[in-house]
Amino acid sequence: MIPSFQTLEWTERGVRFLDQTKLPTEEVYVTCTTYQEVADVIRNMVVRGAPAIGVAAGMGIALGVKNSKAQTSDELKPELDQICEVIGKTRPTAVNLFWAIRRMQQKFERLRVRPVVEIKQALIEEAERMHAEDIAINHAMGSHGAALMPASGGVLTHCNAGALATAGYGTALGVIRAAVEQGKKIHVYADETRPFLQGARLTAWELVKDGIPTTVISDNMSGAMMRQGKIGAVVVGADRVAANGDVANKIGTYTVAVLAKEHGIPFYVAAPTSTIDLETPDGSKIPIEQRSAAEVTHIAGKMITPDGVEIENPAFDVTPANYVTAIVTEHGVAKAPYEQSLPKLVRGGQQLMAGKS
Ligand code: MRU
Repeated sequence: MIPSFQTLEWTERGVRFLDQTKLPTEEVYVTCTTYQEVADVIRNMVVRGAPAIGVAAGMGIALGVKNSKAQTSDELKPELDQICEVIGKTRPTAVNLFWAIRRMQQKFERLRVRPVVEIKQALIEEAERMHAEDIAINHAMGSHGAALMPASGGVLTHCNAGALATAGYGTALGVIRAAVEQGKKIHVYADETRPFLQGARLTAWELVKDGIPTTVISDNMSGAMMRQGKIGAVVVGADRVAANGDVANKIGTYTVAVLAKEHGIPFYVAAPTSTIDLETPDGSKIPIEQRSAAEVTHIAGKMITPDGVEIENPAFDVTPANYVTAIVTEHGVAKAPYEQSLPKLVRGGQQLMAGKS
C-alpha cells in the first residue's frame, strides 16, 4: 500500500507538512521556511504523532542550520543550541522529539571539524535519513505485529498511530496494514478520540483511503463493543514507554486497556525503539502535556460548554505495564517482565545499527 499523501517531507524550499488540523475536509500542505515555523507546526499539531514529531524536529533543526549565516562550526554551535531549545519546548511527552534532537546534536559534534557548508549538507541528509528509516521501521514493526492480529474480526485502535503520525505506514496502523496485506480480514474500530478527534478525523481518513473496513465509535462506546464480542484485539501507539513497560499514549488509552483486560482481550502497543525511554524508570516520571481548554470547550470552532466552567485537558495518560500484553518494536516483540525484555530489544537494535554504519 503506497500512501497517496506525504505527512512531511524535506523540499528545496523548506519542510512541507500535510496540515492535519484541516483533515478530513481539506487536504492542504504548508511549507515552513524557518525553524521557528517548524516549532509552531509541531506545537499547533499541524504535524503530530510521536515518530512524525521526531522527524519534524530533525528537519526543523536541519532547516535552522541551513539558514544560518555562521562561517565556522564554533559560530554555528550556539545557533544550533538555540534551535534545539526552541524545538525542544514544543511538546513534552513524545520522547521521539528529544531522541531526534540528541541525534542531530551528536551528528553535529562528529562533524565539528568540517567546513560549515559540509555540516549543513550532512545535517539535511541526517534528517532525510530519519524520515526513510522511520518508514522502514514501521514496515518491520508491521511484520512482527501482524502475527498477533486475529485472522478476522474487529481490532480497536485509539487516537491516530498511522501514516499521519509517522513518516509513513504507521505503528499501530502499520501492524493492521501488514495484517491486511497478509490476507487477514480485519475490521477496524476507531475511537473518535476526544478532544482533538485524531481517530474520527485522521485514522478514519487514512484507512478509508486504503479501503480497510473501518467503523468510528465515540470514546464511550468501546466497552459495549467489547462486551458484544466485536473486538478481538486492541492495538495502539505510544508517545513514551518507560523502562518498566508503562506506556504514555493519547488520553483515553488507559480506559481502553482496563476495559480490554476486563474482557480478556489482548492489548498491544506498537512503538519504535526511539519511543522507548530506558532513562525514565516508570510512568509516574513521564511528563504529561496539558493543552489548552479550548480543545475541550469547542468542537470545530463552536463552543459546547457554558462560560466559566472548569476544564482539564491532559493530552496523554499512562497505562501501567500490567495491562499491556506485548510491545511490538522494529526489532521484535517484548513481553513482561519489560525491565528485562525492553533493554534487550533497544540495545540489540543499537548494536545492529552500529554494525551497519
Ligand atoms: O497528541 P498527538 O496527536 O500527537 O498524540 C498522538 C498519539 O498519542 C499517538 O498514539 C502516538 O504518538 C503514537 S503515533 C505512532
